[in-house]
Amino acid sequence: MPYVTEQNLTDVVLDRWRAVPDPRLREVMQSFIKHVHAFVRDIEPTEAEWATAIDFLTRIGQRCTDKRQEFILFSDVMGVSMLVDAINHRLESGATPTTVEGPFHVPNAPALADGANMAAGCPGIPCFVTGTVKGLDGRPIANAKLDLWQTDGEGLYEAQRDVTGPWMRGVFHTKADGSYTIRTVAPIGYSIPMDGPVGDLVRRTDISEMRPAHIHFCIEAPGYRRVVTHLFNRACPYLETDVVYGVKAPLIVDFVENPPGTAPNGEKIDTKFYTIKYDFVLQPVAQAAAAA
Ligand SMILES: [Fe+2]
Repeated sequence: MPYVTEQNLTDVVLDRWRAVPDPRLREVMQSFIKHVHAFVRDIEPTEAEWATAIDFLTRIGQRCTDKRQEFILFSDVMGVSMLVDAINHRLESGATPTTVEGPFHVPNAPALADGANMAAGCPGIPCFVTGTVKGLDGRPIANAKLDLWQTDGEGLYEAQRDVTGPWMRGVFHTKADGSYTIRTVAPIGYSIPMDGPVGDLVRRTDISEMRPAHIHFCIEAPGYRRVVTHLFNRACPYLETDVVYGVKAPLIVDFVENPPGTAPNGEKIDTKFYTIKYDFVLQPVAQAAAAA
């Protein structure tokens, strides 16, 4: 084995790390070593800078709890979460695009009837989402599952509220004609958590820490690809600068303001309320496999 020099070190390490029986792990480690060595050769860190980098990653790990995932936040803010999402969901152009799941989904949301209110007791302006779930061929999909979660009208998710019961989330199913009606409240834009190492880093930049107002959806139906996505409010000022790069043009919708009156689910609403219309288009599993 050659003794190492600055010039040959990368090759020596790559050669050592060929001794990995699992071919995928070998491929990943070869690429990782190549890129991390290139990064270090590019920036030529001082030893103090390298210690700072190690400390940053250490603090990210230490900030994680069962309710908070600072590593996911770092991945989101670096655009890596959206890149992984894009690579894994190369859908047909007519299909509803995916976007990041984010850290706030809580499994096993309560099942609610069509038109029911998933924001009962939560602050915010009433908001009704209606539309259909269809296949790429335009046929309605009956009994598709829509799992929704979002902030309340004060910008907080369940994990950020001191509540015991479900908060701002629910599971709905489409009717036989593929239609759905959901009552909620309008979400608002919110800041990513800024009290950890990722926030410290963002504060040293001129980058906005805000996410534009959105409702999260996970839509599933047998025979179709699962879609995890958001609907964004077109009027929100943070669309162009979403700190996690989640916005895609087909996911931007109008929150139409209505005067007091009859809502899409037949309820009488005595304040102003918003309505949103959106037709989700799912891609069949077989078609996705053929396109891949
Ligand atoms: Fe969110």
